[in-house]
Amino acid sequence: IDTSSMAAIGHTRWATHGVVSDSNAHPHQFGTISIVHNGIIENAVALKEELKDFNFQTETDSEVFLALVVHFNKTQNLKEAVISAFKKTQGHSAFVVLCEESRDIFSMRSGAPLVCGTMSSDSRALVSSDPYALIGVCDRIYFPENEVLCHLSTSNKELLSFYELDGSPSKRYQSKKQEATLDTVEKGGHEHYMLKEIHEQPGLIRSLCQYYFRGDGQDSLRNFSNIKTKRFHIIACGTAYYAGLVVRDYLETITKTPCSFEVASEFRYRNPIVDKDDVALFISQSGETADTLACQELCKKSGVRTYSLVNVEGSTLFRECEDNLLIRAGIEIGVASTKAFTQMALTGRLLSQCLGKNELASDDLEKRFDLLANRIDSILEESASIKKIAEDIYKKKGFFYTGRYIYYPIALEGALKLKEIAYVHAEGYASGELKHGPIALIDENMVNVAIVGPELFDKTVSNIQEIKARKGVIVTIGERGNKDLIEMSDYFIPVNFDGLGDLAPIYVNVVNQLLAYYMAKFMGTDIDKPRNLAKSVTVE
Ligand code: M6R
Repeated sequence: IDTSSMAAIGHTRWATHGVVSDSNAHPHQFGTISIVHNGIIENAVALKEELKDFNFQTETDSEVFLALVVHFNKTQNLKEAVISAFKKTQGHSAFVVLCEESRDIFSMRSGAPLVCGTMSSDSRALVSSDPYALIGVCDRIYFPENEVLCHLSTSNKELLSFYELDGSPSKRYQSKKQEATLDTVEKGGHEHYMLKEIHEQPGLIRSLCQYYFRGDGQDSLRNFSNIKTKRFHIIACGTAYYAGLVVRDYLETITKTPCSFEVASEFRYRNPIVDKDDVALFISQSGETADTLACQELCKKSGVRTYSLVNVEGSTLFRECEDNLLIRAGIEIGVASTKAFTQMALTGRLLSQCLGKNELASDDLEKRFDLLANRIDSILEESASIKKIAEDIYKKKGFFYTGRYIYYPIALEGALKLKEIAYVHAEGYASGELKHGPIALIDENMVNVAIVGPELFDKTVSNIQEIKARKGVIVTIGERGNKDLIEMSDYFIPVNFDGLGDLAPIYVNVVNQLLAYYMAKFMGTDIDKPRNLAKSVTVE
């Protein structure tokens, strides 16, 4: 950080409105006032009409906020003008306003994430959309609630202060010591964050196990075990959604409680039938995904109890839910989520155990967690053979990931990983579903990554035969040493299911992570920051 400038703002994302161009890029400036904005101003068109006198320079909705601040600043001081401008906007947003003359920075949120930080040693205050951005530069972080004005000032006695919309001091924020250090955000000798994060999984599983079986996590799990309901709703997006599918299987199998399951972007607009005795479980790495948050709000308003499995402590989801189980994945930087999936599924497994059996220690679960970590270690050691397969197949036209039953979510997640980072077309299908249409696409340029678990073995094998008969390239992930599987496959990735029970899907998922990673590497894509994607999707 260049502290010589005293006050500065910047933005690393492209606008949601308008083409990718220099003029549409933030900050937007008028005179001595500059702004950056995350989110969408839903009434931007109407406001633009009202602000006809302003000479708009961009196609963005964000510039409307600048125009509003400038307009109100004619008759109000900057603090009041920011509040007045904020009150006029609709939609989920976070704004930062800088005044060049006074070096004041004002910031405010409504729905979109915002975090402030201070460094006691050198009188520094920062504001960001993401707490990770403050690691190494702040020793205390603050999470303001919606509609709290944050004021960062180099001239005030207080470096950072908070106000309500009526200008009075506000206490509506949480604050905590910054615990993460810079080494947690380094690549640790790996070429990419994604690879580092894949390799972190065994260690994270062991520490999750320690935390929930013997450590401080026991109490949080105990709180959850008191939840009584006749129906769960699991709601999430992307990888968290697929992890949620695994969790749904656990919950239904172990607790025998029905579980509705839906992507957040659909749930929120579908007028879902919810009962106040239902329980909604939200799953999210960031805890800031706009669609997931909107569903949480909707459920809460309907009287449904809301809980989360979440990674970022202090995130909006964490704060808004009645209670949370932390998935303890550590900081995930690669845009393609890997370790968070594993930790979400495992935390969901622990939750199911607690709800279904009322205690954790009642079976071999702890041992199986340990076994899972060891098995993932072995897969990582053998990743050279997965890399070799990736090299042979990465130029193929398309990929079908297939699996049945508990491996179906893994097929979906495998395909998502591949398309996200390698930019090739991939789809996840239930093995038995291919013959209902997609099989028409199969030829020698199509690859079927088939997951064959011990469950429904024969049926899954006959699905592979159907693809093979149409000349599809078969990559099988199956029990090591199985001669039939080896014979029918063009490529065989041996795994050892023995003793893992219902944790086996999480193990197989690591094979898919590595396959996607190496294919992307051969494709030469930007693995940690794939095109068109953001780590947390804070707009609709
Ligand atoms: O932070 P969340 O878990 O709520 O994010 C949900 C999705 O946006 C996320 O999983 C996304 O699909 C990732 N890019 C997947 O790798």
